[in-house]
Amino acid sequence: MELPFAESYKIKMVETIKRSTREEREKWLKEAYFNLFNLRSEYVYIDLLTDSGTGAMSDKQWSKMMVGDESYAGASSYLIMKDTIKTLFGFNDFLPTHQGRAAENVLFSLLVKEGDIVPGNSHFDTTKGHIEFRKAKAIDCTIDEAFHPTQYHPFKGNLDLNKLEEVFKSNSIEKIPFIVVTLTCNSSGGQPVSMQNLKDVHAISKKHGTKVIFDSARFAENAYFIKIRENGYQDKTIKEIVKEMYTYSDAMTMSSKKDAIVNMGGFIGFSDRQMYEEASVYNIMFEGFVTYGGMSGRDMNALSQGLMEGTEFDYLETRIKQVEYLGEKLKSYNVPMLEPFGGHAIFLDAKKFLPAIPKEEYIAQKLATEIYLEGGVRAVEIGTLLADRDPVTRENRYPELELVRLALPRRVYTNSHMDYIAAAVANVYERRNEITRGLKILREAPIMRHFTVELERL
Ligand code: F0G
Repeated sequence: MELPFAESYKIKMVETIKRSTREEREKWLKEAYFNLFNLRSEYVYIDLLTDSGTGAMSDKQWSKMMVGDESYAGASSYLIMKDTIKTLFGFNDFLPTHQGRAAENVLFSLLVKEGDIVPGNSHFDTTKGHIEFRKAKAIDCTIDEAFHPTQYHPFKGNLDLNKLEEVFKSNSIEKIPFIVVTLTCNSSGGQPVSMQNLKDVHAISKKHGTKVIFDSARFAENAYFIKIRENGYQDKTIKEIVKEMYTYSDAMTMSSKKDAIVNMGGFIGFSDRQMYEEASVYNIMFEGFVTYGGMSGRDMNALSQGLMEGTEFDYLETRIKQVEYLGEKLKSYNVPMLEPFGGHAIFLDAKKFLPAIPKEEYIAQKLATEIYLEGGVRAVEIGTLLADRDPVTRENRYPELELVRLALPRRVYTNSHMDYIAAAVANVYERRNEITRGLKILREAPIMRHFTVELERL
């Protein structure tokens, strides 16, 4: 008999999680005003709110925590991180930051000015936020295939080179400080970018004389997809692929809470010494001195170790196969989803799931609350609540796709948990025709409303 696939690790420490009753969840959800961010984590059985900072560190990472060097300047933990970044990405210089958006804040303080244009592939919210906060504009150049929920394309995170060229044609080059490429593209469903596309985008940027910055939160998952799906990379290691990817960038911002498998941390990597020196000033102001930047020595140690583990093929195969396992299970129940499945999450297509609910009643949020009621599984809405109101007209912005993201923490849940999640979602799907009304907003903040919004049932 052929031996089946199995995880590339075993479990050494466990954390108890508790199931609850439907009646309890009804009460808690009402108290949370139908906003899953307002729930206490102990009211959640399986938490798929995010894969960010929720991973399980390894025994090796924990052991490195014990030998962190907490010196203010010149700590060995800093030097280890510098070496690791040089080895993996080829960058000589880096700045530590406390998380990904802090890296964006520091780097964009240097590079983005009022009136600038920053093209990219479906910029992540905080990336877009840091661009728009500086009165600049983010232009989405993702390929059209990304907007078709089930059309197959191996690299749905790719940038459309014609759309990109159009941005250069209609704007002066002084207004385009850089192109941002998000690996994998979270906002388009955790979809990867091909090596060929990275190469082409880099060539376009050099032709016009601008930079390329990789938003790198899930760079290792992206490299895994290149190895599996792109011709010519099957025999290369993940680390070799990563090294090549970064030859097509000038700098990187990193949220280490994802593919570096730590609970907090981030950094900026630089190929250009002068850019590093200029950005250092902002790092010192916003984050901390250049050799710690908002992180303790032990955290930098765990991060360096996590980067090495996160770029091991066996780990990535286990991780991405678990996402696929959940996706295939849901598919066997005919649940509508984005395909191909993302690297870090499954995205449910809420409009197809609950077709009776009008868009004004927050379809995806309604679906996320029903999944919680069904099984105590917490997911996140990526729909009208997240899209927020137009800053000028104050009208709701209704995105093309209403999604519910089931993001899988790294090395945390087993495939029995996946079976449970799939069954909970399938049960909601089975009674979908009874779910005809959505939710109504009672109170909302002027920006980033999805975190604190209060709703009620219609
Ligand atoms: N870039 C991408 C692609 C991200 O997914 C995130 C965070 C960030 C930047 C910001 O990093 O959280 O460390 O400040 N994504 C989380 C998520 C929040 O749930 O997808 P951060």
